[in-house]
Amino acid sequence: MAGIKHRLSSIWGEFLNETTLHGCKNTFNKQHGPLKRTLWFLCVIIMGGILVYTTCTFCMKYLDFDFVTRTSVIYNPELEFPAITLCNLDPLDKNKFNISAMDDIHKADPLVADYVEQFLRGSLNVSDSKWLDLRPNETELNKLGFGIHDIIRYAYLIDPKPSPVESEFSITYRKPLEKCFTFNGRYMNKTYDRKPLKFKADSILFLHLDTNKDRYAFYSQAVGFRLFLHHPDEPIHFRSPSSVFSPGYMYEITISEKRYKYLPTPYNSYQNQDCRQVEKSNQGSGEYRSPYSRAGCILECRTNRTQSLCGCIIESLLHDNSSVLCDIPQRHFCAMSSSTSREFCDCKRPCLETKYDYELSSFPLTPNRQTPSEFVVTISFKDMMVTTVEHEPELDFGDIISHLGGYMGFCLGASVLTLFELVEVVLKSLKAIGLHRHCTVNSTQIPPANPCENHTTDCN
Ligand SMILES: *[C@@H]1O[C@H](CO)[C@@H](O)[C@H](O)[C@H]1NC(C)=O
Ligand SMILES: *[C@@H]1O[C@H](CO)[C@@H](O)[C@H](O)[C@H]1NC(C)=O
Ligand SMILES: *[C@@H]1O[C@H](CO)[C@@H](O)[C@H](O)[C@H]1NC(C)=O
Ligand SMILES: *[C@@H]1O[C@H](CO)[C@@H](O)[C@H](O)[C@H]1NC(C)=O
Ligand SMILES: *[C@@H]1O[C@H](CO)[C@@H](O)[C@H](O)[C@H]1NC(C)=O
Ligand SMILES: *[C@@H]1O[C@H](CO)[C@@H](O)[C@H](O)[C@H]1NC(C)=O
Ligand SMILES: *[C@@H]1O[C@H](CO)[C@@H](O)[C@H](O)[C@H]1NC(C)=O
Ligand SMILES: *[C@@H]1O[C@H](CO)[C@@H](O)[C@H](O)[C@H]1NC(C)=O
Repeated sequence: MAGIKHRLSSIWGEFLNETTLHGCKNTFNKQHGPLKRTLWFLCVIIMGGILVYTTCTFCMKYLDFDFVTRTSVIYNPELEFPAITLCNLDPLDKNKFNISAMDDIHKADPLVADYVEQFLRGSLNVSDSKWLDLRPNETELNKLGFGIHDIIRYAYLIDPKPSPVESEFSITYRKPLEKCFTFNGRYMNKTYDRKPLKFKADSILFLHLDTNKDRYAFYSQAVGFRLFLHHPDEPIHFRSPSSVFSPGYMYEITISEKRYKYLPTPYNSYQNQDCRQVEKSNQGSGEYRSPYSRAGCILECRTNRTQSLCGCIIESLLHDNSSVLCDIPQRHFCAMSSSTSREFCDCKRPCLETKYDYELSSFPLTPNRQTPSEFVVTISFKDMMVTTVEHEPELDFGDIISHLGGYMGFCLGASVLTLFELVEVVLKSLKAIGLHRHCTVNSTQIPPANPCENHTTDCN
């Protein structure tokens, strides 16, 4: 017994002699008197208590997952231009409903034209047998709306040489029967393979637009365009924010780009909601797929809901040439309401979001007619500054380590290496105790020879 005691005390004595844990060293120093040793012991206890207390409060603070907001404004020589969607307040062209006046290429299916007209005049009898096989598709509906050449007089990208961009507009539907045109959108374009459109400080998009209000087929109270500024990878949907522009003015839109970075669970830094980490889009390999966006998710969710509820979809939802389109009763009793309903879609925000703010200045164009039909819009970046609003964890794991290191050093003179030393000494002691036990057992009782020890013997 005395042997093991001696051995342990020599192990620990050695450790205490060399350690930086001055409190322990002094407490166990045999040269100090009992009073001094007690005082040192109290010091160690108090300092240890402080260390434990501050570490616990610090960990609890970390587990609150607080975040701080950091805003930075950075100059960029080039910025990606947003997508612009234009929707005429009446997208349908009166002339296109005069089937006898149209040539064969532009002639819409007369039944589709009849349906649209009856619906918008409020005289549609859904159960009429003449609609039995009618499934209005986008191709036919497109023919009834204004074409891009009707609404655009001139469209130039001045960069710094002007180049026409009229052919860069593609057709999108904001809601049923509302035909819109999107510039620089790539959400719907599976074959997109270009470099993103970049703007420099002096690049300007110049649009001279015509509402064609004399040809408005059904709505004549409000004249103008609805304009959406959105990210090229995002679609617009029924509730996207927009503003309405009336003819007779020259509008100057100056955009500023804002990027938001939110933190996902457990921080939930966007209004206490989780956000979704987004992987980069896979450009270059196969068909183009836009990265996740909230607007895209809402559109997909409405498509899914309509598809499962009605068994078919309509032109304002996601579709390709294999989709089943709704017939008239399905369209009116199911798809129209489910595709625009406010019902909850569980669409998280992406953790990295780009938004565009804009400032607008306008002045009247010289009135050449009593009630104008045309207007001019120029769009450019205000300054090439990108404002980034970033949520960051208030404390991260490194902070915990440095806190622990600081307090351990400050209170006890310890470091991580001291901890290793301590562990080593403890292991050494355990080993010594184990050995001692083993020796004692060996010396008191010698176990009988185990026949199994010899593997050549069959024990069973
Ligand atoms: C349809 O077009 C024809 C030929 O252009 C014209 O004579 C007729 O008045 C038009 N009808 C309507 C209702 O606009
Ligand atoms: C709608 O059409 C159906 C079938 O043609 C007919 O029975 C019904 O009376 C019509 N309803 C109205 C309000 O015209
Ligand atoms: C769209 O519908 C018309 C009939 O209304 C049909 O002739 C045409 O083939 C359809 N187009 C597509 C792409 O399905
Ligand atoms: C898709 O993008 C490509 C360029 O990458 C363009 O040539 C094509 O016209 C676009 N398609 C549509 C439908 O806009
Ligand atoms: C819509 O349905 C597809 C396949 O059925 C699914 O992969 C996708 O996650 C669904 N989207 C939403 C927003 O529910
Ligand atoms: C349907 O779309 C695919 C690819 O988008 C195309 O290859 C195919 O020809 C289309 N089919 C019809 C009938 O338009
Ligand atoms: C303990 O006893 C075994 C046989 O029972 C022996 O082989 C071994 O060497 C002994 N160990 C010590 C440390 O004496
Ligand atoms: C145990 O094995 C050794 C060699 O493997 C052998 O010489 C000895 O006789 C064996 N003893 C027993 C009890 O089987």
